[in-house]
Amino acid sequence: MEKVKVGIIGFGFMGTTHFNIHQNSGKSQVIAIADADADKRKGDIRKVIGNIGGAQNTFVDLTGIAVYEDGMDLIANPDVEEVDICAPTYMHAKFAIAALKAGKNVLLEKPVALTVQEAEEIIAAAKASDKCFTVGLCVRAWPEYRKAYELVKAGKIGKIKSLLFKRFSPNIDGNAWQNWFMNDKLSGGSILDLHMHDIDEVLYFCGKPKAVTCVGTCNGYGTPDHSFTIYHFDEGGPAVFAEGGWSAPASAPFEMSFQIIGTEGTLVSDPAGFVFYPIKGEPEKITLPDVGLPTGWHVEIDNFLSAVRGQSSDQKYLPYEDILTGAKIYAAERASFDKNGARVEIQY
Ligand SMILES: NC(=O)c1ccc[n+]([C@@H]2O[C@H](COP(=O)([O-])OP(=O)(O)OC[C@H]3O[C@@H](n4cnc5c(N)ncnc54)[C@H](O)[C@@H]3O)[C@@H](O)[C@H]2O)c1
Repeated sequence: MEKVKVGIIGFGFMGTTHFNIHQNSGKSQVIAIADADADKRKGDIRKVIGNIGGAQNTFVDLTGIAVYEDGMDLIANPDVEEVDICAPTYMHAKFAIAALKAGKNVLLEKPVALTVQEAEEIIAAAKASDKCFTVGLCVRAWPEYRKAYELVKAGKIGKIKSLLFKRFSPNIDGNAWQNWFMNDKLSGGSILDLHMHDIDEVLYFCGKPKAVTCVGTCNGYGTPDHSFTIYHFDEGGPAVFAEGGWSAPASAPFEMSFQIIGTEGTLVSDPAGFVFYPIKGEPEKITLPDVGLPTGWHVEIDNFLSAVRGQSSDQKYLPYEDILTGAKIYAAERASFDKNGARVEIQY
């Protein structure tokens, strides 16, 4: 397969993560990078810190790679086939729509956008394009979550009775470019930025909730930094709860975990391991096949590159409709959070 020529907009935590995956994928080659920070444009990524990966503390050789200060100039490069948008969330709609209109394949980091309206405009542009598009809701592709999804669909735990998701990040105050995560209007705080992954998992495992109840806390910037959400389904449906936040000290570990209780057994994935507890019999440790794609980021990017070359579907893990539905569930959660936990019906 001819290597896909990739341009990355935003060379921060996610942009450098995408860069490393592409340069080692064998399927793609980064030919352009855009970043507003002059140091990063020289390959100095020592300031880059993420909630999972930690400081990169290194230099990247950008020899032979076209470098731009603004993402729009990268989009204008005719040699770029695929644009990975890893810029701050408030820039997603602008860059995604421009790249799709320019005929690029677009892998847009999550969350799709700040508002439902922006999400609708992006999906409309994706549908009008004959190129591939996806959003980096990578937990659908994350090995433990994928395996759990396959086991649940295969009937391993019977009917889902209840589901618990947890996403717990060390404090990220001061990590990002211009500290944009701490500005509610630019990032949506921890509910949109972090917990969005679990909103998407609720949708993936259980379908559309009818309503939500969400309470939580804000940090000193007045930005949501921790939330607890109950998802209401029809009578007889599952009981679903998710907790997420970045209110812990920066020294705390990152954790993402789940517990899915079914009529025939329970699946648990947490720092202690990934285990199936049957109704009868001994616990069974779940092992994951080593396919050389260790994280959901690797799986998602690998699939997208195959989609660009016509060997897979860009909607294999994430239908366009689910991107919009997730944005609507988030909007309802945020409305509930802003009303101190009032129940909010979701308008689909
Ligand atoms: N999928 C995941 O697990 C995951 C994890 C972390 C972040 N994200 C998402 O990735 C996106 C980026 O987050 P991050 O943690 O990398 O932030 P970051 O601040 O580390 O990186 C953003 C980069 O964009 C650059 N930038 C700003 N304006 C620009 C412009 N006009 N043109 C080009 N570059 C510009 C900044 O200089 C910065 O280097 C966000 O939407 C975030 O929600 C996804």
